[in-house]
Amino acid sequence: MPLSSEPRARTTVLAPRLAALLRDHLGQDVFRLEPDTVGVAGPEAADRILAARRATETERPTFKPLHGRSISRTEASAVTRTIGGDVRDALARPRPKDVDLSGVWPLTGHLFLRDLILGRDPYRLRMLMSRNLELTTWLTWSVIGVGAALPGWPRPGGDLTALGERAAGAVGYQQRRYAMGMYRRAAAPVCFTISTLVANALWLGAPFAAGVSNRNIILESLRLLPPSWNILRNASPEYPALDARIGADDDVLVLPLLSHRDPALWDEPDAFRPERWDTLDPDTTPGYLPFGHSSERCWGRHMVMPLAELLLDLVRDAGLVVDPAQHTARVPLLGLLGVADVRLVKAG
Ligand code: HEM
Repeated sequence: MPLSSEPRARTTVLAPRLAALLRDHLGQDVFRLEPDTVGVAGPEAADRILAARRATETERPTFKPLHGRSISRTEASAVTRTIGGDVRDALARPRPKDVDLSGVWPLTGHLFLRDLILGRDPYRLRMLMSRNLELTTWLTWSVIGVGAALPGWPRPGGDLTALGERAAGAVGYQQRRYAMGMYRRAAAPVCFTISTLVANALWLGAPFAAGVSNRNIILESLRLLPPSWNILRNASPEYPALDARIGADDDVLVLPLLSHRDPALWDEPDAFRPERWDTLDPDTTPGYLPFGHSSERCWGRHMVMPLAELLLDLVRDAGLVVDPAQHTARVPLLGLLGVADVRLVKAG
């Protein structure tokens, strides 16, 4: 379903499966998607489902088991704090000058964030942020396998990021392989997800009027094109007990993609209106779940806002706009929802 954002006459073309979800289920509460999967978009039902229990380790987006080995909450939390420290360090340094953010997004934003935050780390670690590695798990693990086996593993105590320092402590092939996997797990959401979010914002609204706050632009982009467009919970006895429409063997897919556009919850649901956030609280607005449920919200969201705001500031200060010749952008069916290939150019 093409979603038009007048007056700029830009058309966002969602992948057929995403378009069908909106066409067939917008405004619905709890509905069957597949013989073994129930979709949930009603705010109260979503709230009950997500509050019923914590995500298991295979449902979690960031720290799923690595090499078949569970990542404990303690380790996940330590690694998240480590990358959080690297992000804070990067934000505390003087703003990069003369950076050219024109070009194709989200790739351009991704490379900028990678160099800003992880630029000091050796190539062997930074290359784990290559977008080509998104293509297959096999490719990622091949690169990791080679990286762990090559001589010249980074030494602790060098000029590394704190995340790089964690990896440098690994001894032996198996530990190094694990360390590289963990490096990618922690750094990927910062580079991939935030550049996707900002590309979405630019596509939906750039050029932004001078008085519009970056915060509101980001919140509104997270509403219309939420990078985490679905939240999976595997079949569990809590769910049929909460709602008779959910069977004992049904997986549940909570769908922010739908609740974020429900006409019963939002004025002009398809319009990009950052100013709506002047009066709404993103933590309590019913059905608004870009970072998951209040019982266990995204641990990285405090990194997301300042980095996305920095990117938007740099783009706005440089007078960059979406190429006026670009009228259409595709949103492919991927785990991470975002526009593919938005072209930014200097305003004419
Ligand atoms: C635009 C950026 C991001 C979005 C939209 C996002 C979204 C989400 C959502 C929806 C959840 C809840 C998932 C569930 O309940 O199943 C979540 C959890 C989580 N997020 Fe994020 N996230 C973002 C960036 C980050 C960053 C930068 C980090 C830092 C490394 C991060 C780390 C985590 C962690 C650790 C969890 C909880 C559990 C886990 O996955 O192991 N996220 N995020």
